[in-house]
Amino acid sequence: MKKIGVLTRDCAGVNAAIRSIVRTACICDIEVIGIMHGYKGLIDGEFVHLNHRSVSGIINQGGTILKTSRCQRFYNKESQKQAVENIHRMGLDGLIVVGGNGSLTGAHILASKYNIPVIGIPATIDNDINGINLSIGADTAVNVALDALDKIRDTATSLERIFLVEVMGRTSGYIAMQVGLAGGCEEVLVPELDSNIDVMCNEIQEGNRKGKVSWIIIIAEGKAKAHNIAEIINNKTGLETRVAVLGHIQRGGRPTSTDRILGARLGNYAVEVLKKGVSNQCVYLKNDVLDTIPLEIAIQSKQINVEDLYRLIKILI
Ligand code: F6P
Repeated sequence: MKKIGVLTRDCAGVNAAIRSIVRTACICDIEVIGIMHGYKGLIDGEFVHLNHRSVSGIINQGGTILKTSRCQRFYNKESQKQAVENIHRMGLDGLIVVGGNGSLTGAHILASKYNIPVIGIPATIDNDINGINLSIGADTAVNVALDALDKIRDTATSLERIFLVEVMGRTSGYIAMQVGLAGGCEEVLVPELDSNIDVMCNEIQEGNRKGKVSWIIIIAEGKAKAHNIAEIINNKTGLETRVAVLGHIQRGGRPTSTDRILGARLGNYAVEVLKKGVSNQCVYLKNDVLDTIPLEIAIQSKQINVEDLYRLIKILI
C-alpha cells in the first residue's frame, strides 16, 4: 500500500483522527491525500497532500481541517463513477472515511459496488452508529450541551421558571438522555420514547402546588420543536416558560480528552487494518479493545436503550 485518501465529516475529535491517520501512514511510508469538502471534493477532484507537518497543532481543534459538506450528488450513479475515476486517477490504494451514517453509507457503496478498499471511522455527535458504543464527537457534544444547561439552570432556579432546552438529534435521543441525566433534568423528550404532554403538564402543576417551581425539560430536535412544547405548557398550566435551542454549538468546541484519544486510536487502527487488506469495515473500540464491524451492519439503524436512563431520570427528580 503506497497511497491512501482520507475524507471526513465534522465534529470534535475528527482532527485528532486525521492527525493520527497521517502520522501513522508516514511511519509506514504511505502517502496521504486529504479529500476536501467530503464526497463533493471526491467527485470534483479537490485533493490536498498531507504530511507530518500539515497536521501539527490540530489535536485540540474542533471541526475538520479538510472542510466538509452534505453531498446528495453522491447518491447518483454518475457522480459515484466520477468519484471512483478520481480515486484511480490519484492512484489511491485505499480510503479512510470518517463520519456518521451518511458518510459511512458512501464508504459502503465505494467498497461493495466499486471494489475500493475502504475503512470507516465512526464520528457523529448523534452516537447512532449501529453496533458501536461511542462515536468520535459524541462526548464533546454532551459536555458542550451540559455546560450550557448548567448555566441555564442557574437562571431558571433564580427566576423560578420552566425552561425547555432543545438539543441536537434528528432521529437520536442520545445527547438528550445523557444531558438529561447528567444535568438533573425533570423531563426528557426523545424520538425513541412516546411522550404524553398532558401528563407532563399535570406533573408540572402538581409539583408547582407542592412548591417545585423550576423545571428543565430537554427535547431532542427530532422529537418536537421546543417552542411548540413551551406554548402548550404555557396554555395548559398558565406558567411562564423560556426556550433555549442549543443548535450547532454542540458540534463544535475543543474536543474532550475522550474524543481526542478515541480519534487518535481509531485513526491509527484504521491505517493498520487497511494496510493488512481489510475493507468494507468500520473500526471501533469495545471494552478498550480495538475491533472492526462490517460497514453494512454499522449503517443500519441503532436501537438505543433509552428506557433505563429515562426511568432513572424520573426516579431522581
Ligand atoms: O448528524 C449530526 C447532526 O448534527 C444532527 O444532530 C443534526 O440533526 C444535523 O447533523 C444537522 O445537520 P446540518 O448541520 O446539516 O444542519
